[in-house]
Amino acid sequence: MDFKIAVLPGDGIGPEISRQGVDVMSAVCEKFGHKVDYKYAICGADAIDKVGDPFPEETYETCLWADAVLFSAVGDPKFDNNPNAKVRPEQGLLAMRKKLGLFANIRPVETFKCLIHKSPLRSELVEGADFICIRELTGGMYFGEKYQDNDKAYDTNAYTRPEIERILRVAYEYAGRRRKHLTVVDKANVLASSRLWRQIAQEMAPQYPDITTDFMYVDNAAMRMIQEPRFFDVMVTENTFGDILTDEGSVITGSMGLLPSASTGEKTPVFEPIHGSWPQAKGLDIANPLAQILSVAMLFEYFNLTEEGALIRRAVNASLDADVRTPEIQVEGGAKYGTKAVGEWIVNYINNA
Ligand code: IPM
Ligand code: MN
Repeated sequence: MDFKIAVLPGDGIGPEISRQGVDVMSAVCEKFGHKVDYKYAICGADAIDKVGDPFPEETYETCLWADAVLFSAVGDPKFDNNPNAKVRPEQGLLAMRKKLGLFANIRPVETFKCLIHKSPLRSELVEGADFICIRELTGGMYFGEKYQDNDKAYDTNAYTRPEIERILRVAYEYAGRRRKHLTVVDKANVLASSRLWRQIAQEMAPQYPDITTDFMYVDNAAMRMIQEPRFFDVMVTENTFGDILTDEGSVITGSMGLLPSASTGEKTPVFEPIHGSWPQAKGLDIANPLAQILSVAMLFEYFNLTEEGALIRRAVNASLDADVRTPEIQVEGGAKYGTKAVGEWIVNYINNA
């Protein structure tokens, strides 16, 4: 296949991990005889500094040109503590999601055997946990009507039937390919929007007779995720609940730096790590490139190129087994590897596979 890839390195450690992702992409394409053409585009704080807009029109055009976007991270501390900032890097991410119609955010929570001891949970609880959180990404409070004055403020958690139906369909498709268990997470005991979600899910469930659908309140789900993470196979939820639960999900595996994600929908899909821009580590060559590299695996798998994806996953597992690891997951007394060295080791593995 001929790939056109938009590369959006963004801020902080973004450019460093982006480079490793691109090198892995190129190595796999070379190996399997795919052509790949990259176009780079700016976003986030970098784009605010350069053109005053965190998701400029030109970047949007580049995304539309591409078959897939390889995104890294946005965010810069100089905006965090400034409530008067007119534009923020995060708005670039939200604009990208909205303009590309990326309504389905797929966040797999997988454990890596050799890292389970890093989990804040006891190993016997987290061992074998393997679920996917499907987060609705273009609706809810993030995009609903907002208001703020000095004495009053609100965000509206609005959802329409078509928005709920399409994300549930994605969730059922994933559940059908996995262990056939879908958990719909909501707050239907309090919120009208959740009651509509639940009603629509109950209407749709009979269309998927081989899949078990259950319903769970979000507070209970947050608890269940740390009590019994193996309970879950596919969970689906609205934007804000999904934001919160996926941060929780990403740390129970012991390795936030290892989790990739895909955002798909109406236009070009985006593949990115779950973690943020980690500005304190910028330029230090210590950030873990594996989440970015695994997001390249998800990219290939999205195009049904499963062998390509599997090779990347094998290479990542081999690097962990060989103790080729960035500092935060380094084995005690082991050799030190930086962002670049880990990426190069993986490229080398792919070239020699
Ligand atoms: C995420 C992030 C974003 C979100 C921020 C950076 C706007 O936390 O992708 O989960 O809240 O969606
Ligand atoms: Mn988040």
